[in-house]
Amino acid sequence: MGALHVLDHPLLQHKLSIIRDKNTSVKEFRELISEIATLMCYEATRDLPVEVCEVETPVAVATVKKIAGKKLAVVPILRAGLGMVDGMLTLVPSAKVGHIGLYRDPDTLEPVEYYCKLPKDISEREVYIVDPMLATGGSATAAIQFIKNYGCQHIKLMCIISAPEGLRRIQNDHPDVDIFVASVDEKLNDHGYIIPGLGDAGDRIFGTK
Ligand code: URA
Repeated sequence: MGALHVLDHPLLQHKLSIIRDKNTSVKEFRELISEIATLMCYEATRDLPVEVCEVETPVAVATVKKIAGKKLAVVPILRAGLGMVDGMLTLVPSAKVGHIGLYRDPDTLEPVEYYCKLPKDISEREVYIVDPMLATGGSATAAIQFIKNYGCQHIKLMCIISAPEGLRRIQNDHPDVDIFVASVDEKLNDHGYIIPGLGDAGDRIFGTK
């Protein structure tokens, strides 16, 4: 059964307070999104299985623990999710990276996939889907379903800021998926923005506003 993890580490919360500020520059915003992703990755990988083995130090044999079992894949939801990839790879440099692009069909309002490139062995990997903002949950639930259709059974969703509406949607549609967020904000406004949120994460990462 998946669980909701709200990460409240002081460093994470401090960095979050800076990215919320509308006066934070694109450069600083981008760097902080990456740093926050690294801190969240540290928490989200806490349950990775380890195996006991031995290494020879210069003076003795040490019994040590190494990561065992599944390999990882990071899958950003385009475009804002790209901002979290490098921060994740800082801690798990050998993870493979897939990409999923979704847009909302203006008639049906359903997410439609327009780009997808995933590692061939994705079904054997533990998948970390990343997107800084979990608003309605429409894209995230579609991305999770998409990854599940490839046979993946171990999926985690990592979003920096979430709205209660989006969390409910994911918990309802995918109760098996662990969700990691740094904040649960108040609500969505009529335009689908998270309140108080930080505005459009993609525009702020790429400086497109
Ligand atoms: N996506 C964003 O970038 N910001 C929001 O507030 C909601 C969705």
